[in-house]
Amino acid sequence: MALAPTPNIVVLVSGNGSNLQALLDAEDRLGGSIVGVVANRADAGGLTRAERAGVATAVVAAQPGEERRAYDARLADTVARFRPHLIVLAGWMRLLTGEFLDRFPGAVINLHPALPGDYPGLDAIARAYDDARDGLRDHTGVMVHFVPDEGVDDGPVIATATVPIGPDDTLDDVTANVHRAEHRLLTDTVRTLCAQLIPSEQ
Ligand code: GRF
Repeated sequence: MALAPTPNIVVLVSGNGSNLQALLDAEDRLGGSIVGVVANRADAGGLTRAERAGVATAVVAAQPGEERRAYDARLADTVARFRPHLIVLAGWMRLLTGEFLDRFPGAVINLHPALPGDYPGLDAIARAYDDARDGLRDHTGVMVHFVPDEGVDDGPVIATATVPIGPDDTLDDVTANVHRAEHRLLTDTVRTLCAQLIPSEQ
């Protein structure tokens, strides 16, 4: 009996790639195949993780003076070669324009280390930590959301998890707790999405 086809997952990374690693480690339970990892930097640690796991990689580095839309068109061409059903931004540090997003409607998701509406952009964990030290909050969180347009860390929310910030926590403690929560939430969310994708793709 032929095995049922599973969704193709492409992961976009810019750096360390610990979230990519969480997906690779869980691949036999994801209900999808990680068919490619694309980075915008040749020194992204995520590339080494992918190579170690035997996953195909590609680097699409911006050329000096290249316009965002031109870059995104090249990026989309590279990603499209993997025939993705799901594109995961896991520590992808470039804003994507419609030039990319309109090529993969409903298929791009992003992971952000804060709850919806909180701390869009860079340094979300440190900003939450500073607010906690100022007595303004006692938790932060993580979210996975769809990326329909150029909004920054914004878009229909798929899943969230709350991360407490205790009075004695250091920034390193909170950072480690947020990353742990991210690894779990991203893996669970990708698994849920893959299960929903299969019927419509067969
Ligand atoms: C994560 O905190 C992710 O939410 C943010 O960048 C970080 C990437 O970490 N966008 P890693 O590269 O997956 O280790």
